[in-house]
Amino acid sequence: MKAIRFHQHGGPEVLQWEDVDLPPVGPHDARVRHTAIGVDFVDTYQRSGLYPRPLPSGLGMEAAGVVEAVGKRVRNLKPGDRVAYLTVGNPGAYAQERVLPASALLKLPKAISDEVAAAVMLKGLTSWYLLRQTHRLKRGETALITAAAGGVGLILMQWARVLGAKVIGVVGSEQKAELARRYGGRQILVGYEQLSSRVRALNRSRGVDVVYDGVGKDSFYGGLDCLRARGIMVSFGNASGPVAPVSPLELSKRGSLYLTRPTTADYVATPEAQRTAARELFALIGRRALRLHISQRYRLADAAQAQRDLESRRTTGSIVLMP
Ligand SMILES: NC(=O)c1ccc[n+]([C@@H]2O[C@H](COP(=O)([O-])OP(=O)(O)OC[C@H]3O[C@@H](n4cnc5c(N)ncnc54)[C@H](OP(=O)(O)O)[C@@H]3O)[C@@H](O)[C@H]2O)c1
Repeated sequence: MKAIRFHQHGGPEVLQWEDVDLPPVGPHDARVRHTAIGVDFVDTYQRSGLYPRPLPSGLGMEAAGVVEAVGKRVRNLKPGDRVAYLTVGNPGAYAQERVLPASALLKLPKAISDEVAAAVMLKGLTSWYLLRQTHRLKRGETALITAAAGGVGLILMQWARVLGAKVIGVVGSEQKAELARRYGGRQILVGYEQLSSRVRALNRSRGVDVVYDGVGKDSFYGGLDCLRARGIMVSFGNASGPVAPVSPLELSKRGSLYLTRPTTADYVATPEAQRTAARELFALIGRRALRLHISQRYRLADAAQAQRDLESRRTTGSIVLMP
């Protein structure tokens, strides 16, 4: 079977389309033929070396597909089942097929298409833990969400509103603002400059309760300035580059702020946590309280182009690779 792999860290050009042998299906494993594969910003960090990988390496954390074979001890799955997964710390979804522990695979309900599942496993389960665990967002609170028209951002924004919170979204262009509004965003700001004065103009100078920031370097201090006293900065990504080391005094002088830098590995790495989160996520999608925006599809072999588009801010919502 064919897969995207890389032998050195670097730009999208290091991605290669290679023949790869699948390992045998062990007694607790299943072999999955992928039908759709999610593309995530974290894939670009692993490729570039911001999050270094042992080399050579595969890429990709989320995919959906059909079970082709199961090991002899597997009871919960059978060939033909539609499944999806999020692998934390074990990238390799940019491939036509994969052998994985059966316990890592979630059976898909009818209401969730393969493309939606592939697009939502990492982004949706991340949104779940950010809103339900990192900071338990409450009715009436105000959340500032950066890159609100992006993959995680569009999901976060809709879900936060389901929880009864007010959302102020920030996006990079007027076109993206229109998209965010179509997905329920009421207060959308364009551009990351002078965020604090623009955000405070919208909420009577009070400041927001929580900032969910996946942009990083270019929005971190602007985001901190938007918080009310004792508000929390959830810095969960680095799309514009990593945030430089922060002195605790930066938090005290802005009002005894909290700062956390969460990762999936500490929240949704186990099958149990993933099942709990996915149940809630799939239910929201099933009743259309949460809509997935899949803006672009690429051939799996064109993964480098998908990453180029993602890194140059040309994409909105989620993008998927089709094997
Ligand atoms: N910690 C975790 O557990 C976890 C899990 C999943 C994802 N993440 C993080 O969540 C963030 C969003 O991921 P995603 O896959 O959904 O990507 P995405 O939001 O679809 O794409 C990134 C967006 O960031 C914004 N951005 C601002 N400045 C940028 C710059 N200089 N270069 C590139 N993008 C820039 C762009 O939106 P605008 O043009 O609107 O600004 C861009 O579309 C990423 O930082 C990712 O690492 C973290």
